[in-house]
Amino acid sequence: MKAFVLDRYGKERALQLTDMPMPPLRDDDVLVQVHAAGVNLLDSKIRSGEFKLILPYRPPFILGHDVAGTVVQVGASVRQSKAGDEVYARADDFRIGTFAEFLPVKEASLALKPEGLTMEEAASVPLVALTAWQALVERARLQKGQKVFIQAGSGGVGTFAIQLAKHLGATVATTTGTGNVALVKSLGADVVIDYKTQNFEDVLRDYDVVLNSQDSKTLGKSLRVLKAGGKLISISGPPDPDFAREIDAPAYMKLAVRLLSSPVRRKARARGVDYSFLFMKANGGQLREITRLFDRGVVRPVIDRVFPFEQTNEALAYVEAGRAKGKVVVTVR
Ligand SMILES: NC(=O)c1ccc[n+]([C@@H]2O[C@H](COP(=O)([O-])OP(=O)(O)OC[C@H]3O[C@@H](n4cnc5c(N)ncnc54)[C@H](OP(=O)(O)O)[C@@H]3O)[C@@H](O)[C@H]2O)c1
Repeated sequence: MKAFVLDRYGKERALQLTDMPMPPLRDDDVLVQVHAAGVNLLDSKIRSGEFKLILPYRPPFILGHDVAGTVVQVGASVRQSKAGDEVYARADDFRIGTFAEFLPVKEASLALKPEGLTMEEAASVPLVALTAWQALVERARLQKGQKVFIQAGSGGVGTFAIQLAKHLGATVATTTGTGNVALVKSLGADVVIDYKTQNFEDVLRDYDVVLNSQDSKTLGKSLRVLKAGGKLISISGPPDPDFAREIDAPAYMKLAVRLLSSPVRRKARARGVDYSFLFMKANGGQLREITRLFDRGVVRPVIDRVFPFEQTNEALAYVEAGRAKGKVVVTVR
């Protein structure tokens, strides 16, 4: 099968389009013929080697986390899925590789594709939607009437998180550049801060939850917009000791993570707020809930650009530039 392979770590290292053997199918896997693959910043961070400690992939390997496609074969213990099903998924860590014609996916990690979505639209959803779900529903337990600040509302995570938070009944504040103000308003954002002309810390007060996706300076300022008892959930670091425990990190890494996150944890404690780092995981059950939101028209996909398979490197470069409005997708088939 044809696949885009990373043969060596490196910033801007081009993926090589090569023929790869068909990956083996485990008993609890389904084999998905890939129609479209979503592109994420995680792909470019893995390519540069930034994630080597957390996700120690050994090159050569196929990159790509988000997939939409058709089931062509099922493993011996698969009970629900069958050939012909149209599905989507965030591939499990250490079993990624959606920039390819075929991918085995654990049945427990996938869901039926929302009916009204094209394959490209479906492929844009899993990683960012699960991130928003795991931050706002699972961890923050966001309630009706609460106030949430979602940074970078025009990005992949932000465009879904705003819609999910509105569905949960929260008041949503977000930041974006001047050109994307109308987009985030159309998604339901109640308070829109143009980060080019305004400081969010001058505008927002007494928030229950902040979803931080930006740099450490932004993280520090985010503490100040929370009320006592509020939650600061960061998806852009620094990792915290709970995360290091969760991934069973070696002792030296646990220590490094403790030291790295100690300033923000200390400041958070002093203000009576909770700091935690989130690294999203594949989850078929949650993805099924997300399918229902699309099927009911509660949320919609936001796609910036679709690239042909041959231009997977260009798609990665486009995402890396940091200006995407919503998601970037590659059509594989
Ligand atoms: N830990 C996890 O599980 C996890 C999961 C998903 C993502 N992430 C991380 O979360 C971050 C966001 O991911 P993403 O996929 O949503 O990114 P993205 O789609 O690439 O974000 C691009 C958007 O960010 C906006 N933006 C850029 N700088 C901004 C700023 N200073 N303030 C507000 N908005 C700004 C841009 O709007 P303008 O063009 O108007 O500037 C653009 O629309 C990344 O660091 C990613 O790696 C982590």
